[in-house]
Amino acid sequence: MSAINIALLGMGTVGTGVVKILANNAHNIEQKVGAPVVIKKILVRNPGKVRNAPTDAKIVTDIDEILNDPDIKIVAEVMGGEMPSKDYMLAALKAGKHVVTANKDVVAKYGRELFEAAEANHTDFLFEASVGGGIPIIRPLKQCLAANQITEIMGIVNGTTNYMLTKMTNEKMDYADVLAEAQAKGYAESDPTADVGGFDAARKIAILASIAFGARITLDDVNVEGITNIAIEDIEYARELGFNIKLLAIAKQDDCGINVRVHPAFLPTSHPLASVNDVFNAIFVKGDAVGETMFYGRGAGELPTASAVTADIIDVARDIRHNVSSRILCTCFDHKHIYPVSKTESPYYIRLLVEDKPGVLAAIAGAFGAQQVSLHSVIQKRKVERSTELVLITYRVSDENIRLAMNTLLGMSVVSKVGNVIRVEAEQIS
Ligand code: NAP
Ligand code: HSE
Repeated sequence: MSAINIALLGMGTVGTGVVKILANNAHNIEQKVGAPVVIKKILVRNPGKVRNAPTDAKIVTDIDEILNDPDIKIVAEVMGGEMPSKDYMLAALKAGKHVVTANKDVVAKYGRELFEAAEANHTDFLFEASVGGGIPIIRPLKQCLAANQITEIMGIVNGTTNYMLTKMTNEKMDYADVLAEAQAKGYAESDPTADVGGFDAARKIAILASIAFGARITLDDVNVEGITNIAIEDIEYARELGFNIKLLAIAKQDDCGINVRVHPAFLPTSHPLASVNDVFNAIFVKGDAVGETMFYGRGAGELPTASAVTADIIDVARDIRHNVSSRILCTCFDHKHIYPVSKTESPYYIRLLVEDKPGVLAAIAGAFGAQQVSLHSVIQKRKVERSTELVLITYRVSDENIRLAMNTLLGMSVVSKVGNVIRVEAEQIS
């Protein structure tokens, strides 16, 4: 069969990986598809830039050269950002081209519009690489676990922050240095505040929750906290107490509705997610029939991410060969109640700087008690000038009550600083 021509929008970290995989595994991919898959054109911003992989594709800067080329059947968007990526993908679908993307920003915000355009134009719209980098997770949720009612997803879905937390924990590296290292490795978004602020993970859990629970969950529905407030002291205390700090993305469905959140958490070192290190991601999915499943692998980087993008290209190429399309599009069939994070419960780690004098501990315990916060343990740590650092672990308490208690503490003259307040994901502290 004649070649299936494709175009790439972007040849940065991920686009370069796709060029390399399609060249290195060309024979293998041709056998799987039944036709060669050839990159005909690549859209970039700066055509003069030296690229990290050789290609015979024509480098272009005008999207119309791709949209108006009838030979191009598949467009792989690996540019990033909301605009103009979303407009280009929409235009490609309207021009009857199949689209694959690694862009969680666009899928999380404009997924419905793109699915509708794909359906109307009998094209495919696939986005495996938008969550978990090289880990298969979208296809497993949409297909392999389709028989289940999913009740919970919990995972580490941002490679940059996991890399940073690992290096800060194991090598005591400085926050700014380790962020620069993650950027140099191509893991971070072009604006890394999306990674460290938790928004990249929030978009990913919004996508996963939408598929898992069959209802559209947007970024606005996700309660987001990043890792910018994590201090080296928190990491050290966590280690001392038998925990690792991880940035978790959690989506739960229960009798109250759906709750979706991203936040750092203390995880006991025995927890399977506590040993997911460096750029690796891991995602637990709980289904009523299958029970617990776990997906693990590299969550970012050139070849792992390009592996997922190229697999989508291969899937679409197979559909083209068999003259089918739009087999599995939007699966958000229902509207479901989203309940606020204030109603969620967990134990908490709290680090305070307090005056070092008699009666202070009793006053602090009283402030917690007034909001039904019971203390599991209180440890008096190092002295900082004339104050003492206290580390407290609470029993299980609602987010609402911990906030009320912290507001009271902030108003107390004996409390000079609240260092940090971090959730603890440990079933043994109930
Ligand atoms: P990148 O390295 O910054 O590359 C972006 C590419 O897009 C560059 O080639 C750039 O052209 C081109 N581009 C950007 N804006 C353009 C515009 N307006 N017109 C034409 N070309 C434009 O980005 P990346 O890391 O490969 O990420 C791409 C996408 O994959 C993003 O959505 C990201 O979230 C997602 N993703 C990335 C990873 C990862 O590990 N990096 C993992 C999973 C998903 P020039 O080269 O000429 O500047
Ligand atoms: N910046 C993202 C991360 C890329 O670090 O996980 C993968 O989506």
